[in-house]
Amino acid sequence: MKFFVDTAEIDQIKELNELGMVDGVTTNPSLIAKSGRDILEVTKEICSIVSGPVSAEVTALKADEMIAEGRKLAKIAPNIAVKVPLTWDGLKACKVLSDEGNMVNVTLCFSANQALLAAKAGATFISPFVGRLDDINLDGLDLIADIRQIYDNYGFKTQILAASIRSVNHMSECAKIGADVATAPASVIKAMANHILTDKGLAGFLADIEKAKIKIL
Ligand code: E4P
Repeated sequence: MKFFVDTAEIDQIKELNELGMVDGVTTNPSLIAKSGRDILEVTKEICSIVSGPVSAEVTALKADEMIAEGRKLAKIAPNIAVKVPLTWDGLKACKVLSDEGNMVNVTLCFSANQALLAAKAGATFISPFVGRLDDINLDGLDLIADIRQIYDNYGFKTQILAASIRSVNHMSECAKIGADVATAPASVIKAMANHILTDKGLAGFLADIEKAKIKIL
């Protein structure tokens, strides 16, 4: 499973990228607003750090305007994936932008039918929002499994980009189901390294290192 980091914070992207943990980046208007930076400027900087797909989201609601915005975003760098919302107009924009050779990430997906439409419209990525379904007492992971089954049934090439990831459990479950990509905040990716038994084991080893005065350097 590829890891995308879900942020527009340059320091977080650089830290994870140096460890080989970043296969791509996703941003959205809320993350751009949080960064306090201009969308074109910050997206360009992210694209200069990361070689994989960098999702940049359109702001318009009408297909023609989304297409114009998408073309402008795509000019930032060759690794831009234009992000459009899963509306009828978004699907129209997806089709045009995909046919022009751009990567397109269709976002705000909350049902298997929406994912089916995005694949038909030529989406490179479909972004089902796991956490936001969990928030309303539905099971976001069930949606990932449903889309996996449907795409595999028909050989759709659209990649399942599990989004709205809130926990380390979401990460391992998405990997088990077979999501192609999971996009998560840097904090979730880093928390995957944690285990209480690792901490406990290390404390025991440190006590013995101290007792036996073990030195390597
Ligand atoms: C990424 O593409 C999505 O916009 C993001 O994962 C949404 O996450 P949230 O539901 O935590 O805002």
